[in-house]
Amino acid sequence: MSILVTGGTGFIGSHTVVELLENNEDVVVVDNFVNSSPDVIDKIKQITGKDFSFYEVDILDREKLEKVFEENSIDSVIHFAGLKAVGESVQKPLEYYHNNITGTLVLLETMRKYNCKEIVFSSSATVYGNPGVDKYAESLGRGKTTNPYGTTKAMIEKILEDLYTSDNSWKICMLRYFNPIGAHKSGLIGDNPNGIPNNLMPYIQKVAVGELKELSVFGNDYNTVDGTGVRDYIHVVDLANGHIKALSKLKTYNPGVYVYNLGSGKGCSVLELIKTFEKVNNVKVPYKIAPRRPGDIDVVCADPTKAKEELNWCTQKTIEDMCKDSWNYIKNVSLIKNN
Ligand code: WQD
Repeated sequence: MSILVTGGTGFIGSHTVVELLENNEDVVVVDNFVNSSPDVIDKIKQITGKDFSFYEVDILDREKLEKVFEENSIDSVIHFAGLKAVGESVQKPLEYYHNNITGTLVLLETMRKYNCKEIVFSSSATVYGNPGVDKYAESLGRGKTTNPYGTTKAMIEKILEDLYTSDNSWKICMLRYFNPIGAHKSGLIGDNPNGIPNNLMPYIQKVAVGELKELSVFGNDYNTVDGTGVRDYIHVVDLANGHIKALSKLKTYNPGVYVYNLGSGKGCSVLELIKTFEKVNNVKVPYKIAPRRPGDIDVVCADPTKAKEELNWCTQKTIEDMCKDSWNYIKNVSLIKNN
C-alpha cells in the first residue's frame, strides 16, 4: 500500500518524501513543478538511495489524477500541492482559489472514488488570523484571515470538516505550520523560490550569497524585544517528521478530524535571525530598516503542547541549525549555478 504525496517536489513536500522513504514507506509523488523543479526527484533518490513513483500531474487534471489511483494502491494522502505566496495571493486571488480549492476538491473526489479516506493536510498558522494572543493554541479556532492564501487554507479546513460530517469513515489530520526554514543536511534540497523571495530566510540566503544587495527589514516599531517581527521558526526536517508522526498516529485513530500546530513554541525576531545567521555562518547580511509590510503582525508563535502530548512530536533542531543548514544549501545551489 502506498502513500500519495501531492506537491512532493516542493520545499516541505520533498523533505517529507525523504523522511517517508527513510522510514521504508512506499511513496507515490505527484507534482506539476509550478514552484519546484524536476531535478529534486533525483536529489531525493540520491539522499535516500531509494526509488519511488513520480507522475507529473496537476491535481486539477482529474483524468491524470485518477490514473495515479488506478495504477497504485493508495491508502493515504499527504496533501501539500498548492500556491503559497501571501503577497502573490493578494494580486491573483482567482488563481489561488481555483488552484488551491478546486485542486483539493478534485483530489478529495478522486480519493472518495477509489475509497481512499485518510488524508494529512498541509495547513498554516495563517488560519488563526490575528487573534491578539502571544501563543496560538488549536482551541483558538480559525480567525479572520488576512490574505487569499490564508483564506484558501481556512476554507480547505472547513471543507474537510464538512466532508467528515457527511461521511464519518474519513480520517483527517490538519497540520498548521508556523514558519518553516532550513534545509536537509546534505545541502541537496531546500527553499530556493524562483524570483524575488517573499519570505525572510530565502531572502537572507540570497543576500548572504551575493545574489541580492541587501535585506529590507519590514518595520522596527513592533511591540517586540527589538521592534522587529517575531515568528516561530521551525526546521523543515522537524516539520517533515511531524508528518510522519501524524500519519502513523492517524492510522491508530478512529475516523475523525484532528488538528495540530507544528511549531517550536519559541519566538525569534527578524534581527535575532539575521544576527544568528551571520554568527554561525561567519557571513554578513547587509540590511536596512524599511516600512512595515501590510498584513504583518507583531508576534506569531505556536502553543506546541497538543502535538507533543498526542503525537509525541516536538521540534529537535535549533535556530542555529536552521541558519547553518540554510546557508549550506544556498552555497551548494550557488556553486552549481556558477559552474
Ligand atoms: C517573517 C518575518 C516579516 C521578508 C508566511 C506566511 C505563512 C507561512 C510562512 C505558509 C515577518 C519579516 C520578511 C523580508 C522582512 N507560509 N520579513 N523582510 O509572513 O510570517 O509567514 O510564511 O504557510 O503562511 O504568511 O513569513 O518569512 O514572509 O516573514 O523583514 O524580506 O520577516 O515582516 O516579520 P510570515 P515571512
